[in-house]
Formats: sequence, structure tokens, C-alpha cells
Amino acid sequence: MQRDGSPHAFCLGIEATADDFSVGILSFEGTVLANVSIAFMSETGGIHPREAARHHAKVAGTAIIKAFQKANIGSQDVAVIAFSQGPGLGPCLRTGATAARALASYLDVPLVGVNHCVAHVEIGKLVTGAKDPTTLYVSGGNTIVSAFGGGRYRIFGETLDIAVGNCLDVFAREAGLCQTEGKPFGAIVEALAKEGEELVELPYSVKGMDMSFSGLLTAAVRSLKSRKHRLEDLCYSLQEQAFSMLTEVTERALAHTEKREILLTGGVGANRRLQTMLKTVAQEHGSRFCRVPTQYALDNGAMIAWTGILGFKHGLITPVEESFVRLKWRLDEVNVPWVEELC
Ligand code: ATP
Ligand code: FE2
Repeated sequence: MQRDGSPHAFCLGIEATADDFSVGILSFEGTVLANVSIAFMSETGGIHPREAARHHAKVAGTAIIKAFQKANIGSQDVAVIAFSQGPGLGPCLRTGATAARALASYLDVPLVGVNHCVAHVEIGKLVTGAKDPTTLYVSGGNTIVSAFGGGRYRIFGETLDIAVGNCLDVFAREAGLCQTEGKPFGAIVEALAKEGEELVELPYSVKGMDMSFSGLLTAAVRSLKSRKHRLEDLCYSLQEQAFSMLTEVTERALAHTEKREILLTGGVGANRRLQTMLKTVAQEHGSRFCRVPTQYALDNGAMIAWTGILGFKHGLITPVEESFVRLKWRLDEVNVPWVEELC
């Protein structure tokens, strides 16, 4: 085993942008040895940043030990520590960064700060084999359509207000739905939507290449409270509107960039209806549809470790004094020198 960046070196990545504390260990060649997540579950289903951060501080040691056990390597085999530097919730990010700094200093190895959104794309490419995709990243906190160009992942479209996952979650909570056995609200809405028959009129809001979901949420909640429609019909209509908006923007980005792949990632990417819509678009454009498997589509430490390796191999080390967290760090602010321009 080597600590110098040779193929037998490993990177440990820490993800703590929101409600999960996750630790991934990957070899420099891209083999995932461990990907251990411990989720913070609040009683209300929402997320309170300081409570989540307290949870992360409590479970950090356990998650790191479990990851080492799963990977079956020793701490001396770790050549780099990577951590999610942003964007995300301040208290959660700071807890993850503190754990990463402590570990890097204790093991005397370099630290690499990773952009969480870049990491979603990179792990998606690694596990699906996509080379140069147009990516739709849809989660509880993000809604971004992006593709690589000129050294960075450019944003072609994004939400102007709330994320699509947040829209589904708030609607589910307003409807009094319960998260049994930790099933995500989006999956509960999906199950009800399958029983939907009538398309209830709800706003469709695409502005240029950007999307707005707050008006859609307000209208859906208003329809819910009016009691004029079945909940199943409202879930169905909410999904149809929201996913049509996402598909329209993704299709236009795909057509504009002439990429040959659509990569779908983030928790909302688990939705079958959304997958079907995007698969159809991909087929119509002669492109490959690549869905990131859920364990790598949700927030996870493996994606941070892998992006840390890519950065480290290009000399992107983060000195401790520059390792402050970046709450609003955008995807398109990050240079990704490891991605080659495919013309
Ligand atoms: P990020 O920090 O990337 O925003 P997050 O923790 O908010 O991450 P994820 O864990 O990637 O988000 O995804 C959670 C979201 O995915 C929630 O909004 C959840 O309701 C939604 N979701 C999960 N399964 C489904 C599904 N089958 N259909 C639609 N949405 C789903
Ligand atoms: Fe995420």
C-alpha cells in the first residue's frame, strides 16, 4: 500500500452538506471500498441545520470507523482526505469540515475541498460509464441542468426558487402523509400518483431555461385544501407538471450542447415517471439515458472521495487555512481540469 498517489492509495471522503453524514473510501482507480451513511431523522420530517449538525458530530466517529472496517484497510493506507466544502447548510458543512481537518492533520495527509454538485456529476459518470453527459441533478435542495464546456460544468437551467424535491416534500407534509419506515416523501407521492386519473390544472413555470416550483406548490396546496380533488389526482398532476418542466429544460440543453448522454442523479431521480420522460427524450435524440443507482444518487461519501481523487491528481489541494466552508458555492464556479474537452 502506498500513500503517494499510486494505484494502491485510497481517499476517504466526508459528505455532510445536509441531513446525511456519510463516509466513502475509494481507491485511486475508482473502486468503491466503503460508502457508509448515517441519516439525521427529525420528528417533523423537516431539517433543522443545528440539530442535524449535532447529529453529525455525534455519529462522525462511528461512521468513519465503520467505513474503515467495510473497506478493510488501515488508516495508514489513506493518502488524501476529501470533504464537501459546499454548497449546503452552514452548521452541517462545518461539522464535516472539522472532522476532515482533524483526520487529515492526525494522519498527516493532504485535504481536498470538494464541490458537492460537481461530486454528484463525477460519481454519476464513474458508476454509469457516462463520458460527457447533460446532467439533471434533482434533490431536496438542488435542481440543476448542466453540461461540461470550457473547463467547467456550466449551468443551463436551474430553479429560481425551491428545489423540486422540496416541492414534493412540502406538498406531502401539507397533505398529512407520513414517512413510514423512512420512505422518502417523494416516493410516497409517486405511489399515490400511480392511482391518479384526472389531470388537475396547475401552473407550468419555465422561464427561459430556468424553472420555478413555488407557484406550483402553492397552487397544489390550495387545490388540496379546497377538497375538490382526490389526493391521488393531485399527486399525479403535481408530478406531471414538475417533471414536464424538468424534461423540457433538459431536452433543450441536450439539443443545444449536442451531448450524447443524459445523466439523471439526486434523490428525485429515483422516480420512475421522471425516468420514463427522460428516457423518451434521450431516445428521440439518439442519446443514452444513464440513471445513477440510488445509493450513489443520494448524498454520499463515495462521491466526495472520488472527486477528491480527481482533484488531488491535478494538484488541487486545499490548505487548512483555505478550508472554510462555502454555503453558496455554485457548480459553475469550479474548474474541473480533469475533464477533457470532447469535440
Ligand atoms: P442535496 O443536498 O443534494 O439537495 P438532499 O438530501 O436534499 O440532497 P437527496 O437525498 O438527494 O436530497 O434526495 C432527497 C429528495 O428526493 C427528497 O425531496 C425526496 O422526497 C426525493 N425523493 C426520494 N425518492 C423519490 C421518488 N421516488 N420520487 C420523487 N422524489 C423522491
Ligand atoms: Fe446532494
